[in-house]
Amino acid sequence: MTQDNSSQENAAGQTGGGDLFNTAAGWVLFAAGLGLGLSILSGKFFHGDKPERPEKLGYVIEGAVEEGAGPAEMSMAEALNMMPAVELVAAGEKAYSKCQSCHTIDAGGANGIGPNLGGVMGGPVAAKGGFAYSAEMKALGGTWDWDKMNQWLKNPKAYVSGTKMSFAGLSKIEDRAALAMYLNSKGANLPVPTFVADAAAAGGEEAASAEEEAGAVAEAEAGTDPAAATE
Ligand code: HEC
Repeated sequence: MTQDNSSQENAAGQTGGGDLFNTAAGWVLFAAGLGLGLSILSGKFFHGDKPERPEKLGYVIEGAVEEGAGPAEMSMAEALNMMPAVELVAAGEKAYSKCQSCHTIDAGGANGIGPNLGGVMGGPVAAKGGFAYSAEMKALGGTWDWDKMNQWLKNPKAYVSGTKMSFAGLSKIEDRAALAMYLNSKGANLPVPTFVADAAAAGGEEAASAEEEAGAVAEAEAGTDPAAATE
C-alpha cells in the first residue's frame, strides 16, 4: 500500500492524484487495448489484399519500364499484322530460344520441364498426356487462342497464379505476337485476326451503320403512322 502510494505520488505529484492517475492509466490501457484490437483487425483486412500486390509488382515492371512500353501499346491484332506472316513466324522462331530449355515444339515431342507445345495453339489448355500440370493451369480451361496466348506470355504468373512455369514473361507485344504466330504455325493455323489501320475505313463503317439506323427509324415511323391514322 505505502509503496504503491509513494510511487503514485511520484508520478502524479499529489496523494489525491493517485486515483486520478489510476483512472487515467486505466483509460490509457483501454485505449492501447483498443488500438491493438483495431490493428489486429486491420491487419487481417489488409492481409486479404496482399496476394494481389505481387501480381502488380511482379517481374514484368523492370523490362516494361526500361523498354519504354508506353501507355499506348498496340493491340494483339495490330502486332499480328505488323509484318508479313512469314517474317513474323521467323521472328517467333528466334524468340522461341527463350522457351527451348523447357519445351519441345514438334508435334508429339517429349515433355520436358514444360509440356510439348506441338499443336498447342488452337488446342485445349493443359491437355498434353503424361504431363503433370499445376492445378491452377488445369483450372484455366478453354482453348489457346490469340488473346489467351497473349495474356499468358505477357506474365504467366499473373495470368495463372500458381503456375509451374518459371518464366517472367515477355513485356513486348511484338515478341508475344511473333511467338504466338510461330506456335500457331506448329499448331492449328488459326486465322490471323484482321486489323484495320485506316481510321477513315472505320469512320465509313460507322457512317454506314448510322445510315442503317436512320433507315430503321424511318421504317418504324412509317409503321406507326397508319396505326395513328386509323383513329
Ligand atoms: C523454366 C521452364 C519454362 C520456360 C523457360 C518456358 N516454359 Fe512454358 N511451361 C513450363 C511449365 C512447367 C509449364 C506447365 C505450367 C503449369 O502446369 O502450371 C508450361 C506451360 C506452357 C504452356 C501451356 C501448355 C498447355 O499444354 O496448355 C504454354 C503455351 C507455354 N508454356 C509456352 C511457353 C513459351 C512460348 C515459352 C517461351 C517464351 C515458355 N513456355 C517458356 C515451363 C517453361
